[in-house]
Amino acid sequence: MSTSEPVRVGVVGLGTVGSGVVRLLVESADHISRHAGRPIVVERAVCRDVGRDRGLKLAADRVSSDIRTVSRDPSISVAVLLVGGLEPARSMMIELLENGKDVVTANKALLAEHGPELFDLARRKGRSIAFEAAVAGGIPIVAAIGECLAANRIESIRGILNGTSNFILSKMEEDGADYAEVLALAQQMGYAEADPSMDVDGTDATQKLAILSHLAFGTWVPWAEIPRTGIEHLDIELLSCAREFGHRIRLVAVASRTAEGRLAMRVAPALVRIGTPLAETRGAYNAVSIVGDAVGRMFFHGLGAGQMPTASAVVADIIDTVVGRAAITFRTTGVLDVDGPGRIAGADFQEPHFLRVRVADRPGVLSRVTGILGEHGISIASVIQHAPTAGSGAVPLVIMTHACSSTAIRRAVAHIEASDVVVGPAVCMSVLDD
Ligand code: HSE
Repeated sequence: MSTSEPVRVGVVGLGTVGSGVVRLLVESADHISRHAGRPIVVERAVCRDVGRDRGLKLAADRVSSDIRTVSRDPSISVAVLLVGGLEPARSMMIELLENGKDVVTANKALLAEHGPELFDLARRKGRSIAFEAAVAGGIPIVAAIGECLAANRIESIRGILNGTSNFILSKMEEDGADYAEVLALAQQMGYAEADPSMDVDGTDATQKLAILSHLAFGTWVPWAEIPRTGIEHLDIELLSCAREFGHRIRLVAVASRTAEGRLAMRVAPALVRIGTPLAETRGAYNAVSIVGDAVGRMFFHGLGAGQMPTASAVVADIIDTVVGRAAITFRTTGVLDVDGPGRIAGADFQEPHFLRVRVADRPGVLSRVTGILGEHGISIASVIQHAPTAGSGAVPLVIMTHACSSTAIRRAVAHIEASDVVVGPAVCMSVLDD
């Protein structure tokens, strides 16, 4: 163990991740100090509910509800901001940077919304912001893109970036579990956001995609402009139909460079072929596949949510900050500079598509649906029709197309939905086979 002067850190936010970070810093102190070259001690912590017993080895007089106990303490050089949401997190980050602290954070919503402003402030103050834990939990994807793959022009990113929705989809498929029950379990396990609708409506994955794309392509795209569909409308029947075609359903985030040098981006559920890495990503695991022009395709896999995987990334960032690596990376990662928001290409993707419509059980209906697809230039690869859904008189009709334009199939689906043969909304998803 090193005998050098300890580095004192302040932890702001003692929720699931904040408590995990304190636990790791205390329980693995020797190991961490060997990597940092000096001991790292939690000098102060800030939380809303000061009196609550979290089972942490923190003296009561070290915990307060006032961020100034961290920001105005000259002995603290590194602040760990683990408060979620936009406010007061944004004001807290500004207070910490203004007062000369290097900041480590896991707050992706904050960076996706206010990243350019906060990065700019940190640069002006000569400070760093490290944010490995903001994307894909324990997977070191920020370091991989920002440092290890720096020689590459990144062509595309494809990933499962939300642990909660992946946990829900795999539990529904594997155990036939009910959506609401699995979501409640994901909350209990500490995977979900404070507002879990951000997990299931694709917001969380979209914010992470915006951050990764900023790093990978040097283009800052306001996350709300990225087309986004969540998993709330999926049901067990869809998961088992996908399986019949040899696929699973995953919430997949995609960003790729177009021939014109713009970015095509989206977050949406997609069918992924069983046996491919994305399809084998289960539970709260995340996965990211990146194609670089020199390195080719790389695949990263690991726990993307949960207390200790996220704490692992936060503590690695604290160590990087202490030894000075974070400052170098932050200063040299020029792609985080922003001239203005980048523009994304109209997200048209040429891919096979999966379509489920519930149709009236009468003659001529199948030819009507396939006829509309034909009118829009969409060629069908296979069709499965199941027995009528009990009591509804409607029959699920499931169609797999050959590769077609996502814009064309959207138009065709609107046309089919407006016809008199379908019952309720159709569900249409891309199919990713590689
Ligand atoms: N709620 C997030 C998830 C936590 O489920 O992936 C990690 O960002």
